[in-house]
Amino acid sequence: MTDHPDFVVPDITTRKNAGLAHDPRDFTLPQPAARYTDEDHATWATLFRRQSDMLEGRACREFLEGLDLLGIDAERIPDFERLNRTLAAATGWRLVAVPGLIPDEVFFGHLAERRFPVTWWIREPHQLDYLQEPDVFHDLFGHVPLLAHPVFADYLEAYGKGGMKASRLGALPMLARLYWYTVEFGLIREGDDLRIYGAGIVSSRSESVYCLDSASPNRIGFDLERVIRTRYRIDTFQKTYFVIDDFAQLFDATAPDFTPIYHKLAALPTYGAGDIAPGDTVLQAGNREGWADTDDL
Ligand SMILES: [Fe+2]
Repeated sequence: MTDHPDFVVPDITTRKNAGLAHDPRDFTLPQPAARYTDEDHATWATLFRRQSDMLEGRACREFLEGLDLLGIDAERIPDFERLNRTLAAATGWRLVAVPGLIPDEVFFGHLAERRFPVTWWIREPHQLDYLQEPDVFHDLFGHVPLLAHPVFADYLEAYGKGGMKASRLGALPMLARLYWYTVEFGLIREGDDLRIYGAGIVSSRSESVYCLDSASPNRIGFDLERVIRTRYRIDTFQKTYFVIDDFAQLFDATAPDFTPIYHKLAALPTYGAGDIAPGDTVLQAGNREGWADTDDL
């Protein structure tokens, strides 16, 4: 979170944005497409090809349909305005270019207005497998296809509104866990199978395999209060993935006012990232192989 007192703007963000100005109120800037080099487009193409090949049969139907509808392909880093014409017609969402991570309240303000902030620049070729901060591949390939799905689109707008409220109530750490375990690292049922919808997974080659195939992590049925109480990892694969039945379940579970939930949960202990809790619907209890033993966030 950029509002954390220890937050420093990553070097790559500073370097990529040198000489560019963003609007100080909402952190947007016009997508600086002229700055993309041939190498940048080639990096996009490499990332796109290897992810889209692998995601057939792993990513949920809604994600793959969104990718298709929006015409996101390997050719080059997409033009945001071209995507916006299709996306606006589908769900009323639009992308806005931003320099990198932005302050929480600015981020929530965008979501509440159905604008999705997308980091405009792409990682460097030696960072294909991992980059700590979001780039255009994570933000656009990972997040934008589902914005074309009406129910998910409504969920994310509601999340933005909820974020503005949670800021006022001092409940952001709790709400951040919901984002983490759904928007970034969520799994969904599809018939008898599990599929990926979280952007942090679909934009990562290794976690796209691990989250579905590995015996290490827990896979647990989604429960709102359980998720809000669960700490997470930012430095390793997740120890637990929460599974929704469908996007309507997610939207309905998060529709009520969270204020009483925050009050209730503030008085209760949190769960570690790998805990199994009483009442969990356990689809897989992980064998814990390879789990880091440092503290969860
Ligand atoms: Fe993300």
